[in-house]
Amino acid sequence: MARILREYPSVALKGEDLDGKIDFCRIFGRQAPVHIEIGSGKGTFLVNQARTHPEVNFLGIEWARRYYRYAVDRVGRWQLSNVKLIRTDAAALIAENIAASSVDCFHIYFPDPWPKKRHHKRRFFNNTNTEQLLRCLRPGGHLRIATDHAEYFEQITNVLAARSGRLEEVDFLPTAGADTGEWVGTNFERKYLKENRQIHTLAVRKR
Ligand SMILES: C[S@@+](CC[C@H](N)C(=O)[O-])C[C@H]1O[C@@H](n2cnc3c(N)ncnc32)[C@H](O)[C@@H]1O
Repeated sequence: MARILREYPSVALKGEDLDGKIDFCRIFGRQAPVHIEIGSGKGTFLVNQARTHPEVNFLGIEWARRYYRYAVDRVGRWQLSNVKLIRTDAAALIAENIAASSVDCFHIYFPDPWPKKRHHKRRFFNNTNTEQLLRCLRPGGHLRIATDHAEYFEQITNVLAARSGRLEEVDFLPTAGADTGEWVGTNFERKYLKENRQIHTLAVRKR
């Protein structure tokens, strides 16, 4: 039987929250470090990380309606007041609604690789979006990436290496929900590990 998904209005960001730059202090009702997950899927990372780190405010950005609704339902069931979700295009939201130096960490796990060459322009990691991520990170903030796609990983590494004056590589530590042998414990990581795919990870820190 299909799972009945509830809406939980307190979890979803509202239109008025997007009038200009998001005021994280207002939407979470407190001042706290802000972590943003881009492409949060069914919310597995957010739920595990937010339960382990109640001192952090988490925002998940997810484009696909069914994943977004699933994640809202999960966060609502767990009654996690430190997680908000929004269904929108992450590139547009970050460019328009996230203030400079306001984010402590971006998590980007298994971004769509768009493997066909003619589709590469749809990949999230390009110069424009990377500049926006850097603008939004506070000094000392982190950008964490995991992917199974070797060629996309190489592109991401190159895009970040071109900014090595502003970034330094740091250790990629496993997340709270990761089991033995996992890095992030997301649904896609688990699926790909079952297929014996190699997982590539990278973490950088804004200088
Ligand atoms: C391969 S899935 C990975 C999901 C999850 N991070 C995981 O590891 O299980 C990529 C997700 O990113 C979402 N996505 C792709 N482009 C996006 C965008 N521009 N803005 C927001 N979400 C996006 C997709 O809808 C999909 O849920």
